[in-house]
Amino acid sequence: MKFITVDTYAELSRKAANLIAAQILSKPECVLGLATGSTPIGTYDNLTKMYEEGDLDFSTVTSVNLDEYVGLDGSNDQSYRWFMNHHLFDRVNIDKANTSVPGGTVSDLAAEGAAYDAKIKALGGIDLQLLGIGLDGHIGFNEPDTRFIAETHEVELHPSTIEANARFFNDISEVPTKAITMGMGAIMQAKKVLLIANGPKKKEIVEKAFFGPITPEVPASILQLHPDVTVIYSIND
Ligand code: F6R
Repeated sequence: MKFITVDTYAELSRKAANLIAAQILSKPECVLGLATGSTPIGTYDNLTKMYEEGDLDFSTVTSVNLDEYVGLDGSNDQSYRWFMNHHLFDRVNIDKANTSVPGGTVSDLAAEGAAYDAKIKALGGIDLQLLGIGLDGHIGFNEPDTRFIAETHEVELHPSTIEANARFFNDISEVPTKAITMGMGAIMQAKKVLLIANGPKKKEIVEKAFFGPITPEVPASILQLHPDVTVIYSIND
């Protein structure tokens, strides 16, 4: 594992964008696993800037996102599909047909999960998976549990996750309580993993995840077993 500590969120965002750019430059037809949440916004801003300056071409990139809230469709501005369109896809030359986010409004979430895993497999897996980390150690929406779940699956969000994500909604009662998330199988099979975390509030969970015991109670701790993980932690928000 490469653990990189930086001072500022701006530095974290530049470094993360550079690593993703390096992936795209070295394999233009790569498969990127992408994350939402507040942490990657600066990374996506930097990638957009590189594209605008003519240094990065997304035309042959394919992407698969980690997760989606159950009950929100892509036109809802709280959905993760909307987030990705807004923060990255609508700003660069990626072909939207080559971008995937799990469907949160399908009637059969188990079938959606199986189809999502089959799609990732058919793509040959993920070249670079970008991750954030929840205050409870979740990656994607793989919440603390008694076991690691390999498949894309429906999940009941933990109260701490609902509370943390309430900042994006008008009221905590509006935060969906369920999500569909890529499981640990596709994440662990990604050729490279890049996890970004910023600020004092993430310090304790980052230490637990990367320097504590490997346990499904701290889902991100499974990454200690991955052969190519880079963690970028910024001390300040
Ligand atoms: C989002 C995701 C989550 C977030 C995590 C951290 O697609 O999968 O695991 O990465 O909740 O969120 P922020 O960055 O908002 O602290």
